[in-house]
Amino acid sequence: ANANSAALGAPASGAPATSEAAALTILYGSQTGNAKAVATKLKEQAESRGLATKLVSMSDYKPTALKKEKFLTVVVSTYGEGEPPEDAETLYEFLITKKAPKLDGVKVAVLGLGDSSYEFFCQTAKDFEERLTKLGAEVIHQRADLDVDYDDEAATWIEGALNAFEPDLKAQQDATSGQVVSMPFGAPAAAASQYTKQNPFAAELSLVQKITGRDSTKDVRHVEISLEGSDITYTPGDSLGIYFLNDEARVDELLAQTQIDPTSRVKLGDEELSVRDALIEKLELTQSYPGLVEKYATATGTPELLKLVEDKGAMREYIEPRQIFDVVAQNPAKLEAQTLVDCLRKLQARLYSIASSQAEVEDEVHLTIALVEFEAFGTEHLGGCSGYLARRAEEGCKVKVFSEHNDNFRLPVSDDTPIIMVGPGTGIAPFRAFLQERDAREATGKNWLFFGNPHFTQDFLYQVEIQGYLKSGLLSKVDVAFSRDQAEKVYVQDKLRKNSKEVFDWLEAGAHFYVCGDANRMAKDVHNALVDIISENTGKSYEDAEQYLKDLRSANRYQKDVY
Ligand code: 2AM
Repeated sequence: ANANSAALGAPASGAPATSEAAALTILYGSQTGNAKAVATKLKEQAESRGLATKLVSMSDYKPTALKKEKFLTVVVSTYGEGEPPEDAETLYEFLITKKAPKLDGVKVAVLGLGDSSYEFFCQTAKDFEERLTKLGAEVIHQRADLDVDYDDEAATWIEGALNAFEPDLKAQQDATSGQVVSMPFGAPAAAASQYTKQNPFAAELSLVQKITGRDSTKDVRHVEISLEGSDITYTPGDSLGIYFLNDEARVDELLAQTQIDPTSRVKLGDEELSVRDALIEKLELTQSYPGLVEKYATATGTPELLKLVEDKGAMREYIEPRQIFDVVAQNPAKLEAQTLVDCLRKLQARLYSIASSQAEVEDEVHLTIALVEFEAFGTEHLGGCSGYLARRAEEGCKVKVFSEHNDNFRLPVSDDTPIIMVGPGTGIAPFRAFLQERDAREATGKNWLFFGNPHFTQDFLYQVEIQGYLKSGLLSKVDVAFSRDQAEKVYVQDKLRKNSKEVFDWLEAGAHFYVCGDANRMAKDVHNALVDIISENTGKSYEDAEQYLKDLRSANRYQKDVY
């Protein structure tokens, strides 16, 4: 963030003052880091053409600096129900305020990242483009809305956008030449592993242990993976990406339903392999999305499916309870192997918040994974990755993994700083990592944990460890909300409210506040509880209490890892 602040107008040290106009500003808003990675690629490509760039996180960008821009690109993801990532919120809202400057003469291009299995696909990118053009900016390269499998299309978009920007930008740059060309913006990256999303490490799956009770409504697994033999490192707050294998039995059913010979060869990018292997290892078969239904409808000419393509609402309702397996099973049709493959998108790694610290577990990595299981159409359905880990993978087998850094969820720099952690359900995961780390560092800052789940006897994840930390004093306080152990539901936000004064005192004493878990309901309810707590203890209006939280967020003292 320090390096980025140079992009706000102050010249980088040693560089002469420069005309802001002669650089391509690349603004990114990123929840998990994908938009940041694409924005970084854009910067690299621009610089390889000799174009000066300023790469800035939207959270470090002063919205009023917009009036100085001439060449602007926005790379932004969308999450939840069409919402901007937290990084992007302030700028996103600023653009529709009266304070937003006129942007006549500004050239922009917007790139959206999203997941088409969600209804409001790439909505934030659409909104940014609309808001910028309303202010007078001119779109000089068409927006692209990229799905989870975005690498190739991102490269194409970057090339197109740079072709569009290059002539004017070069002309401006020449006019101000002798000043500065390339600027050293962007924080230095942590030592990167050779193993990445594109080149994962085949790690040994050491342990998959059920940690909910026999009578629990949930099946939560504690998973341990060995990183031995790799150079993968991680920091508490990071996630682990896992590639899984689809269920062979269901793949065989699907091949029968489409009358495809399992040994037929198919092409996937540059690779050639059997259709059966492709379906097991390389293609998405669980999470359905409108694009799949559309392609399958066209390939098979199924009228009922074709009708859905016209009706967004009906499409949503159709997709919601169905995995891709179901779409095929309910609309069987004879297909060529390659045609089927071309309907499907590449299997995406699933990301899980890491539940361990290397200070404690060294070359292991631990995860806390809830098995996704539900009944539909008379059969048991399992989530792709959780089903693989809990039911099909055997301990000792290899799983392909990579670590994904998340600088938006980090322990305070100072070990003296108190922290409040709110992590119901599997939201406990990164806090187990935080506690292991703080224990190993003998951090003196106080630690307060809020945990919730249905039943004390069945669902108190990591109970022994948590009680041990309470005993040793690492945890100063633990508040638990077992929602179904009494007539009235009790949730973590109720426990926060009960401790209103003390929570507020901790915040005033500089505590960092962390939330991990369900984004749609829990994180919102916890946020509202915080607003209440602040207004209760200060007499502030709700609006001012929101501002208090915004300030906390700007200071990186209010961080969320929600999904
Ligand atoms: P429930 O399922 O009994 O309603 C982890 O999933 C825990 O979070 C469960 O105890 C669950 O309670 C609870 N939970 C459900 N909705 C919630 C919400 N809006 N806010 C906080 N916790 C919630």
